[in-house]
Amino acid sequence: MIKVLFICLGNICRSPLAAAIFAEKLLHKDYKQKICCDSCGTSDYHIGELPDERTLTCAEKHAIPLHHRGRQLNRSDFKDFDLFIAMDQANCRDIKKMATAFNTQPRQLFLIREFQDNPDFLDVPDPYYGGEDGFEKVYEILDESIDGLIKMMEKEFKL
Ligand code: 4NP
Repeated sequence: MIKVLFICLGNICRSPLAAAIFAEKLLHKDYKQKICCDSCGTSDYHIGELPDERTLTCAEKHAIPLHHRGRQLNRSDFKDFDLFIAMDQANCRDIKKMATAFNTQPRQLFLIREFQDNPDFLDVPDPYYGGEDGFEKVYEILDESIDGLIKMMEKEFKL
């Protein structure tokens, strides 16, 4: 089983949506037996909380099932997950810092937009302090990036 972890700051906006979109695409591709995923945040701001209302509205609008409670990246994630997929460059820096503190490192760490065709920017913009339209933009970026991620995995893991 290939295990993929999506990571943002708060784990209530971007990464839970990314994991839900990814899981939905796996289902349609029949990869449910081969790949699994989860999401977490680098911060402890929203541990145990439901995703942001606007994240849930956006997922519902696109018919993506989303059931998640916020959790923070922890030591065992570095043992458990094969691919670490960060939403922005600050997340990447924080992941590396936490890994160092745990005396370990992520097996493979990517920025999700590395997998998007012609991204205008490498970060998925943080929609937390904006309006609903920010979440729609995030959805579009994630949808395209995740198609690219799955293509990479199909090649890399010979799925
Ligand atoms: P996320 O968005 O990292 O995409 O979940 C945020 C959620 C909460 C906060 C920041 C970003 N916050 O500062 O509480």
